[in-house]
Amino acid sequence: MNISIIGTGYVGLVTGTCFAEVGHQVVCVDCDAGKIELLKAGGIPIYEPGLKELVEKNTAEGRLRFTTSTREGVEASDIIFIAVPTPPLPDGSVDLSFIEGVARDIASAMTGYKIVVDKSTVPVKTGQKVAETIQRYCKAKVECDVVSNPEFLREGFAVEDFMRPDRVVIGVTSERPVKAIQEVFAPYNAPVIVTDIHSAELIKHAANSFLALKISYINAISLVCEATGANVQEVANGIGMDARIGRRFLDAGLGFGGSCFPKDLSAFIKISEQLGYDFRLLREVQRINAEQMERFLKKIADTLWVLKEKRIGVLGLAFKQNTDDVRNSPAIDLCHRLLKEGAVLRVHDPKAMEKAKAVLKEATFVADMNAVADGCDALVVATEWPEFKKLDLEHARKVMTHPILFDGRNLFDAREMERHGWIYKSVGR
Ligand code: UDX
Repeated sequence: MNISIIGTGYVGLVTGTCFAEVGHQVVCVDCDAGKIELLKAGGIPIYEPGLKELVEKNTAEGRLRFTTSTREGVEASDIIFIAVPTPPLPDGSVDLSFIEGVARDIASAMTGYKIVVDKSTVPVKTGQKVAETIQRYCKAKVECDVVSNPEFLREGFAVEDFMRPDRVVIGVTSERPVKAIQEVFAPYNAPVIVTDIHSAELIKHAANSFLALKISYINAISLVCEATGANVQEVANGIGMDARIGRRFLDAGLGFGGSCFPKDLSAFIKISEQLGYDFRLLREVQRINAEQMERFLKKIADTLWVLKEKRIGVLGLAFKQNTDDVRNSPAIDLCHRLLKEGAVLRVHDPKAMEKAKAVLKEATFVADMNAVADGCDALVVATEWPEFKKLDLEHARKVMTHPILFDGRNLFDAREMERHGWIYKSVGR
């Protein structure tokens, strides 16, 4: 199929590349000329495992190209995917101006029937607005179907998730575009769920809110564990083996961050409010998440007492493992809070150092994770990178003033750590 993707950000680039990989002809469009130049020159604007190789391969084989012209994309394709940002506004609602702008650009370039698919995360009923906008701005008065196709990609696993999805959701207002969209996704051999457009739009917000709820639930359980001497990991294993619950997203820690969960939760609460429903359950999810950080900071302060001039080594800056993304990262938030108290930070992340430097000016960035501990009063694990488990703890103990480790992601074995003479504090254990 001939496909164009408007918006070559994280979602757009992965989508376009993975479409090309299964044989579709793809044009990726972005208004950022610098980004398009970089991609044309064989560079890649984001780190995502496996993506660079696939971009190179599909560009070389002629199935994937890049342009700044929406017109060129629209003319070259039967199906146009919208994958532009939908950032939060100060009140938590969604800024839809990029979506609206793209809908107008598509409309003015359209000369025949097109299927326009929204992949950006949008409030329920946005598809209807996109369809109205296209009708209004399309001079040629040609027909068009607007479809919703929410994405469920996890950063760090985006290529894998795209190539092997649990399910593909397609929301439509008529039967007409269904066959073509099914054809687009047929190579991935995943169950395809066809719904009405409003349901598809809701599925995305409902799914992310549920996952966030699961994390806040286990974080709340971690408090009960701490109050009783129980171990949250054992509780998570025990409840997670119930197939109705499932073990994933039951890791207690510093709480969730990233570019999706916090934003989608706020948006969904706002959307519900506008529809006349006060989604108190989700407000509580937010509250627990914020409190989790406060409690962890209190643990640090209770142990170290005065933080001013204390030298603290922070392992992990990305909002989770396998990514260089520091947007809404609990680790960065934690660093800012420690700096505010006057602590002196030595920080390390396997992938996110460059991005973190822009938002964390006062810290010392250390390239080798084993050198972070030098002269530190305490270490903090803030991101669940598995390589931190290989930290040379013997060396760290020797070079630190005190062997204290605050494990915000429960990476280490508590009993082992204590046996080796560490003052070890984790979450819910
Ligand atoms: C999420 C959704 O998983 C994905 O389907 C959607 O498309 C976008 O949002 P992502 O933001 O990439 O993906 O991150 P995810 O792996 O879901 O983790 C989100 C946050 O939750 C991270 O900060 C992570 O550290 C935290 N988390 C996750 C926990 O604290 N505990 C867990 O058990 C799982």
